[in-house]
Amino acid sequence: MLDHTAVARQGNYSPPASLKETFSKGVSVAVMNHIALQEQIRGIEWAHTIDLGEGVVTPGKWPVNPHIMAAFDQIDFKGKRVLDVGTCNGLWSFEAEKRGAAEVHSVDYLTHVGYWCTPGYKLAHQALNSRAIYDPDLSVYEVEQLGRQSFDVVVFCGVYYHLKSPLQALSKLRSVLRTGGLIVIEGPIVLDSDRCYAKFLYRDAVPDRSSWWVPTRRCLTEWIECSFFDILQEFPEADPVDFKSVRYRSKALVKRLLDRETAVSKRNVILARAVARHDPLCSKQDPDLLPFME
Ligand SMILES: C[S@@+](CC[C@H](N)C(=O)[O-])C[C@H]1O[C@@H](n2cnc3c(N)ncnc32)[C@H](O)[C@@H]1O
Repeated sequence: MLDHTAVARQGNYSPPASLKETFSKGVSVAVMNHIALQEQIRGIEWAHTIDLGEGVVTPGKWPVNPHIMAAFDQIDFKGKRVLDVGTCNGLWSFEAEKRGAAEVHSVDYLTHVGYWCTPGYKLAHQALNSRAIYDPDLSVYEVEQLGRQSFDVVVFCGVYYHLKSPLQALSKLRSVLRTGGLIVIEGPIVLDSDRCYAKFLYRDAVPDRSSWWVPTRRCLTEWIECSFFDILQEFPEADPVDFKSVRYRSKALVKRLLDRETAVSKRNVILARAVARHDPLCSKQDPDLLPFME
């Protein structure tokens, strides 16, 4: 077992400013915890870049998307019940909690991909003293188990294109949101502003084999609207090139060479409100959406 006190005394360790005073008086429990945390972080594969406080940030391969943060800035999380779907290491769950959410459910569906996200989620959860409730095996198609119309906010970021049935997922998410509740949706779109279609990526999912659908911007907004949401704000300028890593950008370049249409895609962020309304464009609804038809 690592002797944290000894490591600190070797002088390789620089504590954050807030701990320096304690450090000068001897190696405190807080300092030892800080070293132990850094040690544990190093042993984990991180997707999310999570600020754990005291100068500790997880080395995520995905930089924080500033456009999702901007969408979060539009939401009053205080006292709210929040569902974060496809939570991965839990970045958006912990962010909702930091912003005052009363109850956060972090769900993921890791059965089919292995549980590499879980150690990171659990460590961040512990380090942040989070009260979020974690279920790594609850698919978006099953979220009504958490209570119909019982959530105030749903975070659905980085997930719809991984699903074979994104429309069914949106119906399920509408059914767990109370009318008036908010949803943040994020994912890639094909850059074709006028036409309404989604590109189906089965044989063409190059080089990412985990994607099924990439819609055009218009198609994504219509998916959302026909699922009984009103779009409040879009963040269409969310070009990955603005904030993604060199690795991501190289991948995008390879994609561009292999397939121009999907390669020229951006990641869109949409903030929408759950509504109940009359829909003159549709005479037949799926069962999850019937309660919202007026
Ligand atoms: C690209 S990551 C996005 C992580 C995080 N939401 C974010 O925005 O950074 C996709 C996540 O969706 C999850 N996922 C895939 N299929 C799912 C399903 N059917 N139900 C719930 N989550 C799913 C994956 O396990 C993974 O955690």
